[in-house]
Amino acid sequence: MAGIPDVALVPTMGALHEGHLALVDRAKSLAGNVVVSIFVNPLQFGANEDLDRYPRDLKGDLEKLPSDVIVFAPNATELYPLGPVETRVTAGHAGSTFEGASRPGHFDGMLTVVAKLFNIVNPKVAIFGQKDAQQVFLVKRMVSDLNFALEIEVVPTVREPDGLAKSSRNRFLNEEQRKDALALSRALNAAMLAVSILEQNKSAADGEIIRSAALEVLHAVPGIQLDYFEIVDPLKFEPIPVDYHGPATAIVAAKVGTTRLLDNAPLSIP
Ligand code: PAF
Repeated sequence: MAGIPDVALVPTMGALHEGHLALVDRAKSLAGNVVVSIFVNPLQFGANEDLDRYPRDLKGDLEKLPSDVIVFAPNATELYPLGPVETRVTAGHAGSTFEGASRPGHFDGMLTVVAKLFNIVNPKVAIFGQKDAQQVFLVKRMVSDLNFALEIEVVPTVREPDGLAKSSRNRFLNEEQRKDALALSRALNAAMLAVSILEQNKSAADGEIIRSAALEVLHAVPGIQLDYFEIVDPLKFEPIPVDYHGPATAIVAAKVGTTRLLDNAPLSIP
C-alpha cells in the first residue's frame, strides 16, 4: 500500500503577502514537497461581496513564491467542471456565527473548496493562518468530523511593524483608513492589557471588563464600523460564560470604508 505522500498544502486565494510566505516557510519545514494552491473561490463569496474586486495577481504571486514550491492555480471550470456544485460541506452552527452571521454561506463555500483541495492534493499536512481564527476552527472540525487523513498546522498572524494584521485586503485602504484600521490591533492589545491587570485584581466579570477595554478603543475611531468584538472559548468558538477561566480568543471584525478586516489574539482569562 502506498504511504501518505510527503506533501504540505498551503491553500490561498492569491494576492500573496508575508503572511502567506510564513505559511509556505512552515510548510517547507514539515514536508519535502510544498503545494501552494491559488484560487479565488466564488463559492465563499456572497452576492453583494467583493468577489469581483478581490485582488488577483498570479504573475506577482509566482514571483514571490520560492522556485521549489508547486503551484496549483486552477480556473473555476477546472475546479468545478460540472458547473455549480450540487454537493457541499456545511459548516453547521459554528459556521453561522460571527463571520458566518455577516457572510451567510461563506464557510460552507470555504469548507467545500478546502475539502476539494484536500482530496485533489492529498497532503499529509495543510497550513492555515491564525488570522482567520473561525476558518481554522471550522477546518479542524471538518477534518475531525469527516475523517480527513491529514494534520492541520496553524501559523501565527504576521503583522505590519505598527501592528496591523497582514491581509490581502489591506491594499484597499487609503492612508486615513489604514490609520483607522490600527484600532483593531489596538483593541486586542487593550484586551491583553486588561487581562494582565485582572491577573492582580480578579473579578467575577473578567470577560466583560476585557470586552469594555477593547470596545472603548474601537468606539473612539469614527472610521470603524464595528461588526463584532467577542471573547470566545477556542474549543467551541462560542462566547465565554461569565465565570470562565482559561484559554480564550479575542476576535474582532470591522469595516473600514468598504473593506472588511479581521483580527484576533489569544488570551488567558485569569
Ligand atoms: O483563507 C483563504 O484564503 C481561503 O478561505 C481558503 C482557505 C484558501 C479557501 O478558499
